[in-house]
Amino acid sequence: MSIQSPQEWDGMSRISRIVAETLFRMQAFARPGMTTGDLDAFGAQQLKAYGARSAPAQDYRFPGSTCISINHQAAHGIPSPSTVLKEGDLVNIDVSAEKDGYYGDNGASFILGRDLRGLQGLVDASRTILMGAINQIRAGQRISETGRFIERQARLLGYTTIRNLTGHGIGHKLHEEPHEIPNYYDRSNRQRFMKNTAVAIETFISTGAREVTEQADGWTLSTRDGSFVAQHEHTIVVTQGKPVILTLENGIT
Ligand code: CO
Ligand code: CO
Repeated sequence: MSIQSPQEWDGMSRISRIVAETLFRMQAFARPGMTTGDLDAFGAQQLKAYGARSAPAQDYRFPGSTCISINHQAAHGIPSPSTVLKEGDLVNIDVSAEKDGYYGDNGASFILGRDLRGLQGLVDASRTILMGAINQIRAGQRISETGRFIERQARLLGYTTIRNLTGHGIGHKLHEEPHEIPNYYDRSNRQRFMKNTAVAIETFISTGAREVTEQADGWTLSTRDGSFVAQHEHTIVVTQGKPVILTLENGIT
């Protein structure tokens, strides 16, 4: 969406802080031995306390309040009372929600407890590449340049990027124009970032995979070869200078 008024700015800021705070608290709450269902229930409680509604549940009938994806799952993992979190798991929590007609989206991968699988480098790469990609976005710039940057940085560090999961526009819906902000250089994508628009930038960095496939549950997107995927995501507003990051956990007002 294009943010035109102080009211729209406030609405986007508020829901973005809510998803950021919820994500932050869920990460702190996660423990080995807990199920992803327990972790999701905690997140649902946070969203409710802020008067926000889960976007995937509301807009897509996703069977959970937040997406929790483990290890070789990249996105849309369904929280379940039978999935137990284990020490060393690569956990991704993606929180998106709506309040007063505005949507925010924030995701992060982290290692639960000790890094038993040696994946901290992947997590750090994903976070660093996301911040680098965001900081070089300017109004008027081609969207494909962001994909080129993410792909190049990942390759330099020995990682691949997932081609069939992308960032997206956001605002009055969870997914809006531009519908695809890819993690690779797509020369056919001639769209540009527009001033004052809200977009969600999300990395999908992998230890080897280039795509994910949908699992039998109809939701979970996983790598076929068992490689790991880390994702970090922020909702931002494009400006002529550095973008404004809306999903920083800096307290709810
Ligand atoms: Co998300
Ligand atoms: Co998103």
